[in-house]
Amino acid sequence: IAIHCLNGPNLNLLGQREPGIYGAATLADIERSLQEQAARLDIALTFRQTNHEGELVTFVQEAGAAGAGVLINAAAYTHTSIALRDAIAGAGVTAVEIHLSNVHAREDFRHVSRIAPVCAGLISGFGAHSYVLGLDALAHLLRGRSP
Ligand code: DQA
Repeated sequence: IAIHCLNGPNLNLLGQREPGIYGAATLADIERSLQEQAARLDIALTFRQTNHEGELVTFVQEAGAAGAGVLINAAAYTHTSIALRDAIAGAGVTAVEIHLSNVHAREDFRHVSRIAPVCAGLISGFGAHSYVLGLDALAHLLRGRSP
């Protein structure tokens, strides 16, 4: 199976960005441990990041065209982007939403997710490990196991 892990704005600064909230791991560190887990699970993993909303939409469309599942940390676009929600719904992809921080323990504006209704499920609050948990959950779904 193929999975595209898509990362939104400011996640390129992980490691130096608000480390008390997001941890010390860089995005490259996260990609490395996720590639290791993907190899263990026999998953072809593509890992991408962009600061641009429209590019994130394009990445979702490309995952759909490739027949890949989507593991997505949309960062702040989670809370604002109807375009991203429409992309996930329209591409017909199976998607899992992930966050490093527990968004429900933070500001009110982070309690709303525009993409959650079109994702299969959501993992939030486990730091870099949210990525690994999300990968496991998505692989389980794509392999046809019941939730
Ligand atoms: C985040 C949570 C979002 O609210 C925030 O805008 C981010 C990162 C997380 O991984 O915890 O940029 O998606």
